[in-house]
Amino acid sequence: MSTEANRHGGPTNKTLCVLPWIHLCASIDGVYGRCCVDNAMYHNELYEQQDEPVFQLNDDAIGCSPGSRYAKDNPDRVLGLQEAFNSPNMKRTRLAMLNGERVDACKYCYFREDHGGQSYRQSINRRFEHELDALAGRTAADGTVEDFPYFLDIRFGNTCNLRCVMCTYPVSSAWGAEQRPSWSSAVIDPYRADEELWRTLRANAHLIRRLYFAGGEPFMQPGHYALLELLVETGNAGNVDVAYNSNLTMSPDKAIGLFPHFKSVGIGASCDGVGEVFERIRTGGKWQVFVDNVHRLRTQVDVWLQVSPQRDNLWDLRNLLEFARAEGLDIDLANVVQWPKEMSVSSLPDEEKARATGELTELIAWCAELGWDKPAAHLGALRSFMNSLDPTNLVDEGAS
Ligand SMILES: C[S@@+](CC[C@H](N)C(=O)[O-])C[C@H]1O[C@@H](n2cnc3c(N)ncnc32)[C@H](O)[C@@H]1O
Ligand code: SF4
Repeated sequence: MSTEANRHGGPTNKTLCVLPWIHLCASIDGVYGRCCVDNAMYHNELYEQQDEPVFQLNDDAIGCSPGSRYAKDNPDRVLGLQEAFNSPNMKRTRLAMLNGERVDACKYCYFREDHGGQSYRQSINRRFEHELDALAGRTAADGTVEDFPYFLDIRFGNTCNLRCVMCTYPVSSAWGAEQRPSWSSAVIDPYRADEELWRTLRANAHLIRRLYFAGGEPFMQPGHYALLELLVETGNAGNVDVAYNSNLTMSPDKAIGLFPHFKSVGIGASCDGVGEVFERIRTGGKWQVFVDNVHRLRTQVDVWLQVSPQRDNLWDLRNLLEFARAEGLDIDLANVVQWPKEMSVSSLPDEEKARATGELTELIAWCAELGWDKPAAHLGALRSFMNSLDPTNLVDEGAS
């Protein structure tokens, strides 16, 4: 497992992903995941039932937290963070990946790769390239890894002020206020009162190196602030890189006061259009408020535009790129919407796909001329993804 190709998650090992060795995700409703696109973690269909269903975990899910709705129906699979990191399914995943086998829970990434898109697996393997060679040696024969996961993605609930068109309940409480079933609440937060979780985080604070916050809207989550404060209070914040996806439609004053304690802070400011298109997709958000917050935050931390290319902004990508260019902001267009299917670019009629292919080809050429390689690569992947897919085969992700 030590060739250049392996290190890039490339041709020799097409299944290996560094995340099951260093990372744990915890979803907004209390299910642990290998990462945020773990196919076994999402149970969104349960929230579409009129009568309260049994909250049966998927067989391949890592487990659930004690404060989650799943705990009652899956008593044998209620785990703390550390147990989840070495749960039977996590251990099986590591061994399968080391053997070059595809893992069913990771099909969202494989699907993207198979259709010319860029996967989370590929980008994360590039980011943590220095870890890849050592993975096999750190893995016991049964798949156990002794370390604490130093990279955590804990979604401290679903509180959110927006109802973006491609998002849903239970991911956003604002969507919940409109479409939740009577047996569930709009706001979900399984971790805030989970004493074992907070004990574990405190005991291992010195080992944490990277946090990713999303949600819901992270700057509205009490648990997110509590974790930042815990790291400051225990003197460990200076070791930690913090990354966010935020809608930046409110001013995160409290967080701004905490940011200087951390090693680095980066915010992917979710932006799916300029002006009116932004407001149409990110329902409830105001473009000018977003722009003002970007201006304010970029003086303190690294800020880039995080775009989710989809049916409704395909014709606004040019404006987005020009806005990014004028503002001197980096732009990430890799998170292509696959679900809901009708919002995916792959669901466009053939005629519009042909026109959009022309538009993307021009934009790619423009970016390439400017030496703007990352957006050029993301747009190329988007073009392949749009043209190579039968939309009936799209793999659901929930909303990441
Ligand atoms: C679920 S949001 C949570 C964080 C924050 N509320 C925000 O909007 O940035 C995380 C990212 O997922 C994106 N997203 C939302 N719905 C999606 C979908 N159906 N498919 C792919 N990405 C989606 C958002 O645009 C955002 O960049
Ligand atoms: S994408 Fe983010 S901001 Fe939009 S509704 Fe979902 S959680 Fe809220």
